[in-house]
Amino acid sequence: MTTTPSLPSASETSDLRTLARSLAMEAGALVRGSRPDEVEVAATKSSAVDPVTAMDRAVEDLLRRRLAARRPDDAILGEEGDDVTGTSGLTWVIDPIDGTVNYLYGVASYAVSVAIVAGDPDPARWTPLAGAVHSVVDGVTWTAAREQGADRDGLPVQVRRADSLATSLVGTGFGYEAERRAEQARVLRHVLPRVRDIRRLGSAAIDLCLLADGRLDLYYERGLNPWDMAAGGLVAVEAGAVLSGLDGAPATRRMTVAGSPDRQAELVALLEEAGA
Ligand code: IPD
Repeated sequence: MTTTPSLPSASETSDLRTLARSLAMEAGALVRGSRPDEVEVAATKSSAVDPVTAMDRAVEDLLRRRLAARRPDDAILGEEGDDVTGTSGLTWVIDPIDGTVNYLYGVASYAVSVAIVAGDPDPARWTPLAGAVHSVVDGVTWTAAREQGADRDGLPVQVRRADSLATSLVGTGFGYEAERRAEQARVLRHVLPRVRDIRRLGSAAIDLCLLADGRLDLYYERGLNPWDMAAGGLVAVEAGAVLSGLDGAPATRRMTVAGSPDRQAELVALLEEAGA
């Protein structure tokens, strides 16, 4: 069992946010500047439709090199490489391209996500400290630091408060495995008639930031990896969202539900009713 270390001071946390922002923006510039007309799949992961591109690897490599130089004592948990252990009790949780399928097809929603957490790098136990999500195509950057709020390109963001679940716009996503998708489709059939509409934009990190920014009312997804949710989840919480799982559990791979307090609780109840 890992014990939670004492947390960095507010000013150290603020510096971590600045670093997360600059790393996400530098990596985003690499993705933006080097997208070939035809992107090729370099490998697949959990299924034949779960791709890795050369750019995923190049960006992860860049982030790892920068972190090794700037924060050599911290651990790294990244989507595309081996875990790096550290001695500081802090872990960088990075997703070089969240929304790889969109990147592959040239659909606009994909992002670089960089976060730092204290304690076990497990969403059930970690304490997110700072994070940044850089949306590559439009160049927008959201950042947050623990107990210091969230911003979009430097301006504070706040979740919106929908009047009811029935008038809420809900983001979600689907996993890469057929069996998981069949189950997600079953749950979606229960949710869709009871909300304003559904958006499946293809990047969980951006979805969570859009929620923080008041452009989605709610978000839920089963199967998120730590790097999909680390930065975006902190941005959402710092913008006033509640982030949880079902049945009183924290947000984890099992289920992540986010939104303003009243509506989030209603969506949790709806998903529990659906046996999600
Ligand atoms: C995926 C995206 C997608 C979500 C999937 C994730 P990736 O991340 O965030 O929106 O629905 O669950 O795996 O594979 O593009 O990094």
